[in-house]
Amino acid sequence: FDKMELPPRPKLFDFHGVSMIHFFTQNWENVQNFQARPDDILIATYPKAGTTWVSQILDMLYFGQTSPERLTTLPIYERVPFLEMTIPNLVTGKDQADELPTTPRLIKTHFPVQFVPKSFWEQNCRIIYVARNAKDNMVSYYHFDCMNQGQPEAGDWNSFFQRFMDGNMVFGPWYDHVNGWWKKKETYSNIHYMFYEDMIEDTGREIDKLCAFIGLSPSAEEKEKVTSGVQFDNMKKNKMANYSTLPIMNFKVSPFMRKGKVGDWKNYFTVAQNEHFDADYKKKMKDPTLQLRCVI
Ligand code: A3P
Repeated sequence: FDKMELPPRPKLFDFHGVSMIHFFTQNWENVQNFQARPDDILIATYPKAGTTWVSQILDMLYFGQTSPERLTTLPIYERVPFLEMTIPNLVTGKDQADELPTTPRLIKTHFPVQFVPKSFWEQNCRIIYVARNAKDNMVSYYHFDCMNQGQPEAGDWNSFFQRFMDGNMVFGPWYDHVNGWWKKKETYSNIHYMFYEDMIEDTGREIDKLCAFIGLSPSAEEKEKVTSGVQFDNMKKNKMANYSTLPIMNFKVSPFMRKGKVGDWKNYFTVAQNEHFDADYKKKMKDPTLQLRCVI
């Protein structure tokens, strides 16, 4: 569709105990019946945690040598389909995933762990989860909801702040999402749990760990190509990675590749908000083994 035919902003509703919008629930049966293959790789994240970054890394690692033209001709959302996405007049994420010609298939989801189609577990697929500290995740999500017509109205910052803490976000509470996926590692070993802040701290090191998990050993030259290709400024310029080809997003409000930093929350949280947030965070994040860093 063109800019004139944009759908109205969706409304949140409760879906199996998680707030969702119809763009991600309408195709529920088909998505739940998705047939995963053993070599599929699922990229799972809470929205705005670094999905696109890790998707581009994986696509470059797997296909940068064998089919480099993919990277320059297909936008990221075609190379790595968004499984549950169902937007009127667009091919569904599920159909896109079914038709992916690559091996492995790289598939993105924002589902909380309990929503993942069962065949991913049955096929013992590799899953890469990326978590980002709650404060920066919130700020990034706020800007995303402001610029993306496919998301509910963001409202003003103060109300968004409260809604985030209440878990009234598309894909539910951040807290449940990161904890649910973290817990899943206890019973399902094929998950590589990554942190956005670690990728910022040392992208090369995190790419090495990722390669160890998926069993790739790129040459030094290949790795250098990936590391530099996925630097924030390069991805921001890259039309096939920066979402500038999607009319549903209004880059005049905020670009998709916005800042790419750790600690931007300090520019948005008031001192009072920060105290309130920290107290609430302590109550919700009881597992001492899961530590997220909002400053590095
Ligand atoms: P900001 O809004 O804080 O800038 P997702 O891909 O999950 O939607 O996440 C988007 C967030 O990841 C945005 O955060 C975006 O700028 C950031 N991001 C995307 N690519 C990045 C990169 N190469 N390096 C650092 N941050 C990146």
